[in-house]
Amino acid sequence: MIFGRKDALKSKELIDITGKVAFVTGANRGIGYMTVKRLALQGATVYLGCRDETRGLEAVAALEREVADAYATASSPQPVPGKIVYHHCDLSRPELAKDCGDKFLERESRLDVLVNNAAALPGGPGISPHDVVTINHFGTFQLTEVLLPLLTKTSQTNTDVRIVMVSTNGHRMGRASDRNIRFRTREDYFADYHKDLIPPWQAYCVSKLALFLATKALQRRLLSASSSEPATHPITCISVHPGAVNTFSNRVPYLPGWLITPIVNLFFISPDAAARSLCYAAASPEVAEDKEKFRGAYLVPGFKIDPDTDITKNETLQDEVWESTVEILKAWPEAGQVAP
Ligand SMILES: NC(=O)c1ccc[n+]([C@@H]2O[C@H](COP(=O)([O-])OP(=O)(O)OC[C@H]3O[C@@H](n4cnc5c(N)ncnc54)[C@H](OP(=O)(O)O)[C@@H]3O)[C@@H](O)[C@H]2O)c1
Repeated sequence: MIFGRKDALKSKELIDITGKVAFVTGANRGIGYMTVKRLALQGATVYLGCRDETRGLEAVAALEREVADAYATASSPQPVPGKIVYHHCDLSRPELAKDCGDKFLERESRLDVLVNNAAALPGGPGISPHDVVTINHFGTFQLTEVLLPLLTKTSQTNTDVRIVMVSTNGHRMGRASDRNIRFRTREDYFADYHKDLIPPWQAYCVSKLALFLATKALQRRLLSASSSEPATHPITCISVHPGAVNTFSNRVPYLPGWLITPIVNLFFISPDAAARSLCYAAASPEVAEDKEKFRGAYLVPGFKIDPDTDITKNETLQDEVWESTVEILKAWPEAGQVAP
């Protein structure tokens, strides 16, 4: 089988998360949509993040039907499904990501699982390479930062709070595989990608590397913060590569989905199969039982941990991403000013 497809089709039990609250970004379609479904079926209240209210509410309605059907036809006893709730989530500018987080804090008193799934994939219409970096790294970082106090508060009563960052093997490719890569300045993130062969792909790889490095820095910060604050339990951060997933065959221009989808499905896994990896990171008993093993790890299809590369294990580079991201976000131009 190609692209690790066989591994990605495996399934694992999840824990009952009744009474817990999860938030999945970019969940009106694709892998995020199926992740919401699986987490709701485990009993959690799940917030479905989407940047468009109409599409978000349509997704909630469709998921409510699918979840009810799955519960009614389950062959073994299952938790009573949790509620699915729309939450506006636009990461296209940091101030919008902050607003998404602030509004979440206003409406919820806990957050047990944050799944940072939303991303601009390379090749999306009207999306520049710099937009890809803004959305995937800076928007996601900003949202996570705003939600951290709520996650930390939840960790006073829940020993198993988790942050799942959806990554990709692309964080080891193209520009992101350059051993001399740096993240000191705005220019390091917002390079002139048009000099590259496939500019949006290069930006995608860099954005996902930056996010992965920031996640590793975050995990170290959370561990050291919780050691000085004994009332909290350290939050577990896991980066996940969901595999090569067919979330695109129904959007290929000029080619009908009925023709292209069966061919693509020979090589790519379904969004539902991919969601198993995200849900494993979010709610598997294995992670609960051996948190040390999973903290800061990179999970690949088949529920396996892939070792760090020389680049991703470099703590100086991890801290560089963390510190420069905080500085760049502080100085981010307001809407209407010159874009970075
Ligand atoms: N598909 C793959 O083969 C693959 C492989 C490796 C990693 N991944 C990762 O898996 C995750 C999900 O990918 P997918 O294949 O399910 O992609 P998808 O079908 O394109 O879905 C992406 C989601 O992100 C949302 N999104 C895009 N831009 C956004 C923005 N500015 N603000 C808020 N939300 C935004 C989209 O919303 P709209 O509907 O409004 O556009 C959509 O809900 C991504 O992090 C991706 O990098 C995917």
